[in-house]
Amino acid sequence: MPQLLNNTESNLNIKNVKKLIKKYQPPFWVYDSNIIYKKIKLLKQFDVIRFAQKSCSNINILKLIKNKNVKIDAVSLGEIERALSSGFKPNTNEIIFTADILDAETLFKVVDCKIPVNAGSLDMLTQLGKVSPGHHVWLRINPRFGYGHSKKTNTGGENSKHGIWEPKLAIPIIKEYKLKLIGLHMHIGSGVNYLHLKKVCQSMIKYAFELNQKISYISVGGGLPIPYKFDDKTIDIKKYFMLWDIARKKISKFLGKKIQLEIEPGRFLVAESGILISRVWAIKKMGNKNFVLVDVGFNDLMRPTLYGSYHHISVVSGDNRYINEKETIDTVVAGPLCESGDIFTQKEGGTVQTRKLPIIKLGDYLIFHDTGAYGATMSSNYNTRPLIPEILLKNNDSIIIRRRQTIEEILSLEK
Ligand code: LLP
Repeated sequence: MPQLLNNTESNLNIKNVKKLIKKYQPPFWVYDSNIIYKKIKLLKQFDVIRFAQKSCSNINILKLIKNKNVKIDAVSLGEIERALSSGFKPNTNEIIFTADILDAETLFKVVDCKIPVNAGSLDMLTQLGKVSPGHHVWLRINPRFGYGHSKKTNTGGENSKHGIWEPKLAIPIIKEYKLKLIGLHMHIGSGVNYLHLKKVCQSMIKYAFELNQKISYISVGGGLPIPYKFDDKTIDIKKYFMLWDIARKKISKFLGKKIQLEIEPGRFLVAESGILISRVWAIKKMGNKNFVLVDVGFNDLMRPTLYGSYHHISVVSGDNRYINEKETIDTVVAGPLCESGDIFTQKEGGTVQTRKLPIIKLGDYLIFHDTGAYGATMSSNYNTRPLIPEILLKNNDSIIIRRRQTIEEILSLEK
C-alpha cells in the first residue's frame, strides 16, 4: 500500500526523504530495511522463504535478507555470482538456479558449485545429467493454465515458454542420468484470486501423485501481490498458506514422507520497501494537457511503460512551500527519454492518463512509491543514461549501496 510520506510509521517519511534529498543528489532509489524485515516475518509459516532476487538484486539487500535466514533463487549466472558474493553457500540448497535454458558457462558454474537446478525444460535435464550425475534437480511444471498482472507476466498455458508441459517425460531422463529429483515447482502468479489458487494447488497434487517420486519439497513459486493502489486488496497470507498446507499434507501422506513447503516471493518482500526520488526540470502545456517532466525515465523505472503499472506519486516541494494535497490538477508525468512512451501515468497498451496531483513547480521532487521490486533491476542505459544510485535506510541512517554509474564506464565497454 502506498505509504503517504507525512502519514507513515516507516522510515520512508517526509523528514527522512528531505534529509536524503539534501545529502544525495536526486535521482536515486531508496530502500527501508525495516520494511523488508517486516515482510519476511509475515511469511514465517513457510518452511523455506526463497527470495526471487530478480526483483531487487543489490548484494547489500541480499546480505540483509540472508541474515534473516531467507534462501535465494537465481535465474542467471550473474544472479548466482551475486548470491555467492553475498555469502550464500555453494554445495547446499541455499541457492537454487531456476531457468528454462542452461548455457555452457552457467552449466559449468552449477556443476562446480553443486547448485540445485530447477529445470524448466527437458533439455536442461539431459545437458546437466550428462556432466553431473547425482545432481539435485527440481521440475518446474507448466500446469497448462496461467495467471498474472499483465499478459507479459502470465507464466502458464500454451503461450508461456516457462516450465515443463509433460513432467512425466522427465522421469526416464532423471533415471538415465541418475539425477536426484528433490522438488516440484509451480510459479503461476496467483495473486488474490483464491479460486484460481485452489486450482493451482490441485494441479500440484495431481502431478505429485502422477509422478509418484520421493521428493522432499514443493515450491509455490512467487507472485504474491502487493497493493500498489489504495483500494487494491491485500493478500490474506493465512489463507494462502492454508491452501498450500492442505496440498502439502495430501502429498506428504501419499508419498509417506515429510514435504517442506517453499515460497519464492520477489515483490512481496521488497516492493513496498522502496521509493524512487526524482526532480522536476520542465513543466509544459500540450493543448489541454499539463505535462511535468522529471529526470528519471523508463530506462530507470520501466514498469509503467512495459505493463501500464501504477505507482503512486507524491510531491515534495523544492522551496519549502506548503503542498496542498486537496488542490490538484490533472497531470501527465513523463521522463527525459526521446520516446513518447516515456510516461509514468499510462495504462497497459500505452494510453496516456492524467493523475490528480498538487500544483507542481520547477525544482520540486516527485516520489514514486512501491518501487523496491523490479525498479532498479530492470533499469537500462537507454539514451546513454547512467544507472542511478541506490540508498539503503537502516533505521534513520542511510548508506549508498550502489553509486551512480559514470558515462565513462558506459563508454569504456566500447573502447
Ligand atoms: N519465481 C519465479 C520462477 C518467477 O519467474 C518470478 C517472477 C518470481 C518467483 C517472483 O515473482 P514476484 O513474487 O516478484 O511476483 N517484472 C515484472 C514481474 C515479472 C516477474 C517474473 N518472474 C514486474 O515488474 O511486475
